[in-house]
Amino acid sequence: MAEFVRITDVSPRDGLQNEPGIIPTSEKVRLVELLCRTGVDEVEVTSFVSAKWVPQLGDGERVFAQLQEPGPSARGLPHPVFSALVPNERGMQAALDCNRAAHKNLIEKVSVFTAASETFCRKNTNATIAESLDRFRPVVAAAHGSGLKVRGYISCVIACPFEGPIAPEAVARVAKQLMDLGVDEVDYGDTIGAGTAENTAAMLREVSREVPIEKGRAATTLHLHDTFGRASECVRAALDLGVRSFDGSVAGLGGCPYASSTLPDGTVRRAPGNISTDLLVRTIHEAGYRTNLNLDSLAQAASFAREIVAKSRAGGGG
Ligand code: HMG
Ligand code: MG
Repeated sequence: MAEFVRITDVSPRDGLQNEPGIIPTSEKVRLVELLCRTGVDEVEVTSFVSAKWVPQLGDGERVFAQLQEPGPSARGLPHPVFSALVPNERGMQAALDCNRAAHKNLIEKVSVFTAASETFCRKNTNATIAESLDRFRPVVAAAHGSGLKVRGYISCVIACPFEGPIAPEAVARVAKQLMDLGVDEVDYGDTIGAGTAENTAAMLREVSREVPIEKGRAATTLHLHDTFGRASECVRAALDLGVRSFDGSVAGLGGCPYASSTLPDGTVRRAPGNISTDLLVRTIHEAGYRTNLNLDSLAQAASFAREIVAKSRAGGGG
């Protein structure tokens, strides 16, 4: 039997966080519901970050509340792991409040996030890498105390939009620090899609000296953005090295607002989208592995995601 690969769809979070228009909460909930039908193992539903920093995701509590309401769709039925980004104790508290309101661990995992680049970390979270790790200590304790798992993201594992190429040793150092803090999983983010098969493999080889990539287990996840159309070659390289957990985003939506750059003429170039979950799954299947995903249901979710984003960009959301 082919070996299993775990998939997380991050479109409701990474996919939507950089959208300038208003996407109604009910449409985000519908997207999550459609993702639940694809067979995906985890959905990263939202972030509990400052709404001043990421206005699009200021409705995280309402998204989770609506996911609990009885409705015509799949609400209330068994669902994949729901996770959410939390940058600090305040975000962790918001996640726990959602679970309290749901009378269960509706959110089973929280994700803390730092970077291998000091400049990016500062721009994204107003903290040095060391300060960001300090913030995570009580978050990890609170999450584990309530039975939640913790994912630790590292951004800029290949290159930084401000500092350029990042040494694999710098990534390994942060990965080790996250593991020492007690995270259950490290997620390596190629924030700007600078990865190639070669530099991704070099980075993974280096980090595996600190955080072994255990074949068949999901302690190591790869989070790719597909700026130059090379993400699927990175997936193949990672599979060869034993990585069995990947993030994708339906319709290839996504990008960190703090990885966007301003061009000399003043226009803002949006951060690149994630590898589309469809391409990710096809790449994995073609490489001889299996996933739980159904490509037809995935196409339906992708088409809905495209629709709500197009509507909000045209000013029709809300
Ligand atoms: P700060 O300004 O240093 O924090 O931001 P602060 O403690 O001074 O708080 C500022 C304001 O935010 C205060 O409100 C706080 O109450 C509030 P005010 O008093 O001014 O009205 N606040 C919060 N509100 C809601 N939820 C919270 C929270 N914390 C403080 N949790 C902070 C520090 C970390 C909060 C801020 O920098 C932030 O929210 N950053 C988030 C940035 C972000 O979400 N980026 C995108 C996600 S990361 C990503 O996309 C990369 C990834 O995909 C992997 C990859 O591709 O590389 C994961
Ligand atoms: Mg990302």
